[in-house]
Amino acid sequence: MTADIIDGKAFALGLRERVGKQAAAFTARTGRQPGLAVVLVGDDPASSVYVRSKGKATAAAGMQGFEHRLPAATSQADLIALVDTLNADPAVDGILVQLPLPGHIDERAIITRIDPDKDVDGFHPVNAGRLATGLDGFVPCTPLGCLMLLRHQLGDLSGKEAVVVGRSNIVGKPMAALLVKESCTVTVAHSRTHDLAGVIHRADIVVAAVGVPRLVKGEWIKPGAVVIDVGINRTEDGLVGDVDFDGAVSHTAAITPVPGGVGPMTIACLMRNTLVSACRREG
Ligand code: GUN
Repeated sequence: MTADIIDGKAFALGLRERVGKQAAAFTARTGRQPGLAVVLVGDDPASSVYVRSKGKATAAAGMQGFEHRLPAATSQADLIALVDTLNADPAVDGILVQLPLPGHIDERAIITRIDPDKDVDGFHPVNAGRLATGLDGFVPCTPLGCLMLLRHQLGDLSGKEAVVVGRSNIVGKPMAALLVKESCTVTVAHSRTHDLAGVIHRADIVVAAVGVPRLVKGEWIKPGAVVIDVGINRTEDGLVGDVDFDGAVSHTAAITPVPGGVGPMTIACLMRNTLVSACRREG
């Protein structure tokens, strides 16, 4: 079997172009650009790279970026005060506080301070609750991007067996909720799962998001399954996913590569969520 290698980079570019056209139409209609505020506390190099690429994508989509880079020693009270200011600013449609935050700041206190209707990351418990109960809100960007790739590959997902490996609030749990909404039969596997190989072997759809390099072996995968690899692990061999790509590629119908699979979809979905927020706020 020769797998389709799912080109997330090309799909993300197409999505960003469509969002850019709609952002231009929004600006023509309302006289203002959709606005995204990104807050970075400290100088973690990986976070700094992410924030820079989010800023570039925002400008490329014809949106207004508001970048706030704060020193690592910023107090929780000062960060909360900035979030309050952004919540109240009518030019800001989306607020993203880059994680992880320095250890002296309570991440939960910051995430829950963001206005849920500007929470384009979809991390606020109100948005998690909306997703779980089928209400409109914001869906976290990485699982949303995975769902778009799956729909593009498979069309209707109804009735399919899906296994999500990983139970994080950012990827695993919202991914499972999205797949339930698509009428999949969903299993969430994690580090305590007995017989991970057996559980994965049932799946028509595997989404791996555990952060363990090459954990999922090719022979575990049911022939013809579609595999979405969210992992980005830095190893001596360079960037690798949570799936053993070389072993899996001959078993799958389609698989995302690392890099160039899910990664580019995250920023494209952030642009999409910001546009959606701007449109909702204009009413
Ligand atoms: N850190 C790593 N990924 C993300 C993300 O998607 N959003 C935020 N806010 N922080 C992150």
